[in-house]
Formats: sequence, C-alpha cells, structure tokens
Amino acid sequence: MKKIILFLLILSLLVIGGWVFAVSTKGTTNPTPGEERCHPRNAPFQDATLPIEARIDDLLGRMTLEEKIGQLALVEKNGLQKTEDISTYHLGALLSGSGSRPATNTPLAWLEMVQDFQNQAKETCLGIPVLYGIDAVHGNAGVYGATVFPHAIGLAASHDANLVGRVAHATAEEMAATGIYWNFSPSLDVTTDQRWGRVYETFGSNTTTISDLGAAAIEGLQTSTEPYLNALATPKHFVGNGATTWRSSVNADYSLDQGNTELPEAALRRDHIEAFKHAIDVGALSIMAGLNSWQGTPIAAQRHLLTDVLKHDLGFQGFVVSDWYGVYAISKDRYTATVTGINAGIDMVMLPFDYQLFATDMQQAIAAGDISQDRLNDAVRRILRAKFRVGLFDRPAASENGLATIGSTEHRALAREAVQKSLTVLKTKPGVLPLSKNGQRILVAGSGADNLGIQAGGWTLEWQGVDGNLFPGTTILNGIQNTVGPNTAIEYAIDGGLPSQVDKADVGIVVVGERPYAEGVGDRANPEFSKEDLKAIANVRARSKKLIVIVLSGRALEFPEEAKGWDTIIAAWLPGSEGRGVADGLFGVSPLVATTPVSWKIPD
Ligand code: BGC
Repeated sequence: MKKIILFLLILSLLVIGGWVFAVSTKGTTNPTPGEERCHPRNAPFQDATLPIEARIDDLLGRMTLEEKIGQLALVEKNGLQKTEDISTYHLGALLSGSGSRPATNTPLAWLEMVQDFQNQAKETCLGIPVLYGIDAVHGNAGVYGATVFPHAIGLAASHDANLVGRVAHATAEEMAATGIYWNFSPSLDVTTDQRWGRVYETFGSNTTTISDLGAAAIEGLQTSTEPYLNALATPKHFVGNGATTWRSSVNADYSLDQGNTELPEAALRRDHIEAFKHAIDVGALSIMAGLNSWQGTPIAAQRHLLTDVLKHDLGFQGFVVSDWYGVYAISKDRYTATVTGINAGIDMVMLPFDYQLFATDMQQAIAAGDISQDRLNDAVRRILRAKFRVGLFDRPAASENGLATIGSTEHRALAREAVQKSLTVLKTKPGVLPLSKNGQRILVAGSGADNLGIQAGGWTLEWQGVDGNLFPGTTILNGIQNTVGPNTAIEYAIDGGLPSQVDKADVGIVVVGERPYAEGVGDRANPEFSKEDLKAIANVRARSKKLIVIVLSGRALEFPEEAKGWDTIIAAWLPGSEGRGVADGLFGVSPLVATTPVSWKIPD
C-alpha cells in the first residue's frame, strides 16, 4: 500500500513538475529540438504566408529578455556610439531627428546609411529589422532634392482629401526610395491658438476637417498594392497638444509648446481625441504621445489616456511611441520615469540617446516586478505587429533603382497642384484677379518672393528650416517670370525700392511673411508682419495701380491698419518647393478654390 502511495506521489510530482516546466518555458523558446536559436531558417515567423499574429507568437517565443527590451528602444542615429550597438543592444528602432542626415546629403547616401543600419540589425541572432523613422511632414524634406509639398495647413485650405491622400502617397514613395518606411506624420493636433509655433503642421482648427484629412493622409501613406503597408503613419500628438495654456510650457524658452492642456475630459474627447479614433479606424498602427501635459501630468505618464482610453476604449492595436525625451521628462529620476511611462502605456521610447541606461533600467524593472512580463510582451507584440504589417520582414531591400522618384517631375507636378489648391484669397477688390499675362508692367518685391527657404518653412533640410535658395525648386518670382507672356515686363527688388517711374506699374505683387521656425521656437505673443515687409509693401503700393500681397505664413497673422489699402490679400501658407503654383493662381491658370482652415481677422 505504502509503495502504491509513494508511486502515486512520485507520479503526481512528475506531472506537476512537467506542467510547471511547460508553463514556465512557454513563450520563451520556440525552436524545435536540435534547431539553433540564432539565425533560424524557415521558422514560422519568417513565413510570409502565415497570419501575422501567428508569426508574432512564434517570434516572441524565441526572444530573450534583452531582445525584447531592445525592441522598445528608439534611438536617434547620431546618438549611436557605434553601428554595432544596434546588435549589442538589440535596438528595435532608429530615427533621424530633423536635420540629422548622412555626411553628404544625397538620396543615395541616405539609402546607403539606412541599409547599413538594417544590415547590422539583420546580423543579430533573430535578425529582427529596425524600424527607421523620420518626420516627412511635408514630403521627405530632409533629403536634398526631395519634393517639398505644402505644409499641412495649406493642404487643409484645399479641403481636398483626395489631394491629401495623393501627397501622402508620393511622400511615402520618396521615403521608401531611401529605405525608410516609418513617418512621424500626420499631425492630428487641433489648432486653438495662432500664437503656437506648430499651427502649420496641423490641418487647422476644425475637428471634422482634421479627422477627414488626417485619415486621408494615413491611407495615402499606408495603402499599397503589395501584401504589406506602403509606409507606417504616426498620427500625433496624442493628445490635446494644440490646446495648451499660454506660458504653461515646461520649456523655459517656449510659451505654448510643451505646455499644459487644462480641458475637462469630455471636451478633450470631443475635440481632440475624435481624430485619433478615426485614425485607428483607417488602420493607424503607431501613435505618438505628445510632450504636453494634461491637467498637470505629462501625457507620457497618463495611464488613463494611453491605456484606458486609447488602447481599451478606442481599441488601438498598434504601439504608442513617446516623443523626443518625453519619457525622461516624467521624472528627474530616470528609472522612475521609465517605469511610469511603460506602465502608463508607452510601448516604444524615443529615448532618443541613452539606450544603455534604458536597457539596464528595464532589466532591473522586470527583475523587481516594477514592470510586468505581460506589459513587456504586450509592448513588443504591438511593435512587432507594426513591423510585420509594414513588411519589414518580407519586402525586398530598397535599391538604387528607386531613387529617381525623389523630386521626380510627377511629384513636383503634384506639389504644384497642391499649391494651386491651397492658395486662399482672404480679400480681393473686384477686377484684380486673375492677372493678365500680356502687356503688363509688374513689380515684384518682398522677403519671400525669391526665397525657397521662406516658402518651405520649418522641417525643411533643417529642423528650423533654411533661409535662401538652398535646394531645388521654383521660387514665386521664378513662377511669375515663367508664366507671363514675352510682352510683359517683370521688375524685381526685394525691398520694393524700384527705380521710380512717372507711370505706376499695372500691378505690384509683394510676397511677405514669416521667417521659418519649428515647434516652440515659433511661439509668438503677436504673430505679425515684420517692419521690413511692411516697408516693401508700402514702397510697392506707392508705385503700382493694383497691389497684391501674398502672405507666406504658418498661421493667421495680425494685419496692420494699412492693410485696408491692399487690394488683394492671398494666404499662400508654406507652399514648399513649387512656387509656380502661386503664379498659376494669380494668372488664372488654375481656379482659386481654397478657404482658410483657421480664422483670420481680415481688414476691409
Ligand atoms: C517633435 C515630434 C517629432 C520628433 C522627432 C519632436 O521634437 O515634437 O513631432 O516627431 O521630435 O523628430
């Protein structure tokens, strides 16, 4: 009897032991017996015919703790101490912050740089590709020679979702040509204050417009004829970033940007969360959390918003990426910041530099139970889902053959069309427009008339943009010169101080506006015209029968008293590289169809 009891006891211990072993190893190693863990061949996760969730299950099961942690790290490429760190730290994602580029800024150098990083990732044990992100917010405009489309505020003036979709698609093509498939765009921020330096990145103030155009941009970026997405869109910044309180910024140099949003939750949901709901419905798989706070707590630490609202209520299945340094802004103590951010629902951390520290902190947090294995696995699963969906494991590597798409004639024609459709007539006296192409004497002046940098605004080659004709494109002056007939005379002087003639010119066109800026650097107490611009306008006013003022700006500017004497005022927003589109609108080549997406106080 005793023997039988002993036998049953041993048997049950074996069964329980086996079960415990099975459970404890479940999800940590999938290789079949005898198969090497590293560099597997024909593993289920490598099989493009399997459903994505099955591929994720297989891959997750093969990953070590270190490999999982690495997937959560998003590192600025200039922050990499050496390329090998991609494999040493199993880094999941890299980015080029604005202005961060290869040593020589050519499309080929971009392609080679990104491929180098990708090759390094493929050499790792499981060969998980890196996701490479960029702010291609108005074309892939960090790349020299790229087509620079109008900024979002101009596209919004067209109210044309089809156009926005086509622009986004062309942008994805110019990104893919350099091996980049992840765009930190579109912005779904809702502009509530023209003093903000990020107004031009938005589709304006109306939630429905933002929602519709945002969805069109996401679909344009993502839709593909291949079995994987074209490029991954990143609607941003979740949430309320456009509704911060003046002077609430945590950045001493800014006023609104990185500030505090005070709205009650119902208003936040109605006006600001709504567009993200739509974005998720059309397939967004990566969403960026803002650098603002909500009711005093940084968004990256808002478990309610990121997990309860975004992931549970809205059913978001993709990953939440924090913004630049956003997690470390939660607390001075980096360990606490990391734990708080990940537990709040951040899945990928735009560190963007300290990846070694992040790896150590995460290992400690998992060991201590401060972050659960489940939370880690959930974050990795969400990131892998996006990587699989965008075809990183399956698509052929980008090759030099694709480079011709960058700045192609076709894309420039599309950008020109976008400029035509964004030109917004704020005021015009009867009989001024359209201008005649023939037999005219036209004076052209203003800081923006012959300046591609001013025309393009921030996020063009550099974060804060550039000043001057430093990249391929057509200025508005070029556009006018190329549009008029041979018997029309164009006279140009930047300050409008043209040789005085007894007779006034038939028309004066003055192109004025804001110098480029980006983010909080562009926060202004009074967005207005500069003294030099007003002087140029006055000079041309005195010398022309009709005066047209073209405003290049990222937002509604305040008009001075003398604007009452300007015959026509057109907001051209930040049109980008194709200034010809402005001339098209002036001379009746294309109809003037746009209406402003933000409110201007227009003089009589
Ligand atoms: C901006 C984001 C941008 C990120 C990466 C941040 O400063 O707030 O909109 O995507 O930088 O460049």
